[in-house]
Amino acid sequence: MQLIEALQRRYATKAFDSTKKLPNVVIEQLFALLRLSPSSTNIQPWHFVVASTEEGKARLAKGAGGSYSYNKSKILDASHVVLFCARTQIDDEHLQKVLAAEERDGRFTAKPEVKAAAHNTRLAYLNEHKFIKKDVPHWLEKQIYLNLGSFLLGAGLLGIDAVPMEGIDQALLDAEFGLNERDLTAVTAVALGYRADTDFNAGLPKSRLAADDIFTLI
Ligand SMILES: Cc1cc2nc3c(=O)[nH]c(=O)nc-3n(C[C@H](O)[C@H](O)[C@H](O)COP(=O)(O)O)c2cc1C
Repeated sequence: MQLIEALQRRYATKAFDSTKKLPNVVIEQLFALLRLSPSSTNIQPWHFVVASTEEGKARLAKGAGGSYSYNKSKILDASHVVLFCARTQIDDEHLQKVLAAEERDGRFTAKPEVKAAAHNTRLAYLNEHKFIKKDVPHWLEKQIYLNLGSFLLGAGLLGIDAVPMEGIDQALLDAEFGLNERDLTAVTAVALGYRADTDFNAGLPKSRLAADDIFTLI
């Protein structure tokens, strides 16, 4: 599918066909999107809870009660739902895990000294956010949104329907999945699958601000 076509076709799906499931070949590509997303200094401050069973989706749907209930049927009827979680802090264990992965993946074979440089750069960025900008959780959450954007585009290119949902009770889901104990917190969720014939939003035209409003060409 061409890029513009995919951008026009994808939309915030409000009703999923609960009888249609994503095939494994698609799920593998969706996992690749999540895993291969870029992040600042390759810090990868994320974790994904992926629900595809009725039980799993019911657990996630607990986060769509009360004022978030408009999202409940999306979670229950989708084929898969991904809960995007952010790390709440970066400790040395995480830094060493990233460094070990980079070494395992062969990024330091040509010049061994690059390993120390990679670690020091990541640590310097982290310390800048810790001690100067004082915004570590915010910085880490930004990386989640970057992943989310690439995920939605990728899903669109694969012809998969999806809806991102900030309308979830993050604290409730933190407790449901024991996330805080693992230095994680729920940020947003994406329901994926195939649109239902009844989805009112599928037939509505896409609407965006005019190009003149958002571009300054110099
Ligand atoms: C971060 C984010 C959170 C969103 N949260 C919800 C949500 O909780 N429920 C929902 O139905 N749509 C949600 N949306 C969908 C937006 O309303 C939708 O993307 C926007 O109106 C643009 O329409 P389009 O995606 O159909 O092009 C969210 C979108 C984003 C990017």
